[in-house]
Amino acid sequence: KVYTDYFYNESAYNTHDGGYIPLEVPDIPQQPLRIPELLKPDQETDTDMYYTLTAQEGETQLLPGAKTKTWGFSAPLLGKAIVMKNGKTIHMHLQNHLPEMTTFHWHGLNIPGPIEDGGCHAPVYPDGHRDIQFKIHQPAATVWLHAHPCPETAYQVWRGLAAPVIVQDDVEAKLPFPRNYGVDDIPLILQDRHFHENNQWDYRADYDPDGVQGPTPMINGTINPYFDVTTQRLRLRILDGANRREWRLHFSDDLEFTQIGSDDGILPEPVHFTHLMTTCAERHEIIVDFSNYKPGDEVILYSDDTPLVHFRIHEFAPDHTQLPEHLVDIPDYEPDLPLHKVVMSGMDEYVMIDGKKFSMQRIDYKMPINKTQLWDITNTNDMDGGMIHPFHMHGLAFTIVSRNGHAPYPNERGLKDVIAVNPDEHVVIKVRFTVPGVFMYHCHIIEHEDGGMMAQIQVYDPKDPDKQYDLMDHETL
Ligand code: C2O
Ligand code: CU
Ligand code: CU
Repeated sequence: KVYTDYFYNESAYNTHDGGYIPLEVPDIPQQPLRIPELLKPDQETDTDMYYTLTAQEGETQLLPGAKTKTWGFSAPLLGKAIVMKNGKTIHMHLQNHLPEMTTFHWHGLNIPGPIEDGGCHAPVYPDGHRDIQFKIHQPAATVWLHAHPCPETAYQVWRGLAAPVIVQDDVEAKLPFPRNYGVDDIPLILQDRHFHENNQWDYRADYDPDGVQGPTPMINGTINPYFDVTTQRLRLRILDGANRREWRLHFSDDLEFTQIGSDDGILPEPVHFTHLMTTCAERHEIIVDFSNYKPGDEVILYSDDTPLVHFRIHEFAPDHTQLPEHLVDIPDYEPDLPLHKVVMSGMDEYVMIDGKKFSMQRIDYKMPINKTQLWDITNTNDMDGGMIHPFHMHGLAFTIVSRNGHAPYPNERGLKDVIAVNPDEHVVIKVRFTVPGVFMYHCHIIEHEDGGMMAQIQVYDPKDPDKQYDLMDHETL
């Protein structure tokens, strides 16, 4: 079966109480798509990987003329891509060379909070550093790293602090997927920016409490990119790294493609599409097969009518690989705790979770590790004036049980850490933490998160239910 519609309620797509900014590509020559370099480990053994990572300022040639002042992780913009292997212990030496405090949040890693997780309780000050270590115990997936200082997350991500993280494991390694990084396996980080005078960004000038947008698509930190296709099959690790924008993706000729992975792992079964919508912070791994094209052809990836990437087809060897119908098994657990409800409400400055604004010192909910609970997430916005809120939790991957009482969308049957909830909708997810700590959960329209649409959970080991954590507050930061 090939799905030809976007799954989400299209009337809610990118609504923005009038503030929606349509995409347009500047009239500049096509640029080669930037592929984030892989961050080299300082050292790697059979059991451990050591990395040094620096949040830094830089300059990037995005448009003709002046370079844009940008930020990145060990790179001028975005970051190097970081590989982590399941089962290994990762040692991170985190350095801050920015003029302001930042944090290093591992979005999608199943690691303890609040320090290793890198939310707002783990500041690294200018010229400072922090050493953390954590063990990877999760399946292969595309996750990501972004800054998370509250309430400056949106600003710092806009300046560029977002990088892909590739988790590898033995299960994925045996599946017949392209995995030659940079050749037939590439990240695709979708963002949008507004360029002001001298090609600079000005987040404060563009501020909108419902999420900052810009008219110019920026893919892997490239404006108007092309990519040279030299293999029949190409794997794209798509990340919606925009502060607020949803993307409705499709290729020229309505070329069919196959989704093999969602936020935190490979899907149980491949899903075939012609149209895919993504909301903030979600990841979709897809395989595109160019067998019907010949050298000299061009295939374009669009969001609505706006070209995002031009794929230039070159000579490639025929590839007859068939994907199995079943890819991976996803463990399932019976709930052992009563249903928990979460309500996302409001727009603009009025966004809240459970009727409250975020407070760094308040624990909003407690739950033990290794217990399973259904969470029912409601978006109280109404259809007409409302907007989609992508609900994200730190510290775990969840599964989707239902959407308004119906089965989840076909590509939502894998592990996720972001789930877009349409206006007037409620989504039931299955939550099970395996590591303790204090974790945030929030709307991933980053301005909503900074605006207080965020709460905290303390996940405890039943042997130590009242463990005290040092929680920062805005004054001590
Ligand atoms: Cu992408 Cu609080 O995270
Ligand atoms: Cu996160
Ligand atoms: Cu929101």
